[in-house]
Amino acid sequence: MELVNPLVQQYAEQYSSPEDELLKEINEFTQTHPEAQMLSGHLQGKVLEMLSCMIRPRRILEIGTFTGYSALCLAKGLTDDGQLHTIELREEEAVKAQEFFDRSSYASKIILHRGSALDIIPTLDEIWDLVFIDADKPGYIGYFNLVFSKLKKNGFILADNIFFHGQALEKDPKNKNARGIQAFNEVIRKRNDIDKVVLTLRDGLFLIRKS
Ligand SMILES: C[S@@+](CC[C@H](N)C(=O)[O-])C[C@H]1O[C@@H](n2cnc3c(N)ncnc32)[C@H](O)[C@@H]1O
Repeated sequence: MELVNPLVQQYAEQYSSPEDELLKEINEFTQTHPEAQMLSGHLQGKVLEMLSCMIRPRRILEIGTFTGYSALCLAKGLTDDGQLHTIELREEEAVKAQEFFDRSSYASKIILHRGSALDIIPTLDEIWDLVFIDADKPGYIGYFNLVFSKLKKNGFILADNIFFHGQALEKDPKNKNARGIQAFNEVIRKRNDIDKVVLTLRDGLFLIRKS
């Protein structure tokens, strides 16, 4: 399912601030990756940056680093003493992301953890201001449950791909990722201890506030 009209996408990109040089390089580098579509990209990256600049978080957790694009967008809003922890399962992607982080002005603020988020999150002794969930889709409910008690009151969770290319809107999707996202969306819908809005940006972004 085409979620965004390409002309609308192009127009929105033209009227938004351009990517900085490093983000442009990461975006171009990642286009050769077989799963290039996983990258947040220009518009969503800019929205992540803007949200982070509004929140001014001291501690950010990102679950799913990939090549480091979204981490560098979110890092732009960190306080002076802020840190962003990001977790990546795959060694090759983690190595590449670390190279990009090292070349950025956020090198000392970004801590990259290599391994499975389910193992690593419980070892992080932090209270989060902002969490970005963007790893394996069947894991979303588990990640939400793991981070919620460590999320500050009025802290935010962002969860990506909540339309899952439109398949999450189907009645009985075959794909396990789409089913994982559907289950996550239902959990979020039913909770009354959070405030939430679905942003129809790219593949759908849940914006959740702990009330
Ligand atoms: C959608 S991509 C992340 C995209 C990135 N946030 C961005 O916007 O540029 C998902 C990433 O999560 C990683 N991943 C999958 N399962 C994971 C797990 N259990 N723990 C940590 N990372 C995982 C994948 O290897 C992949 O690089």
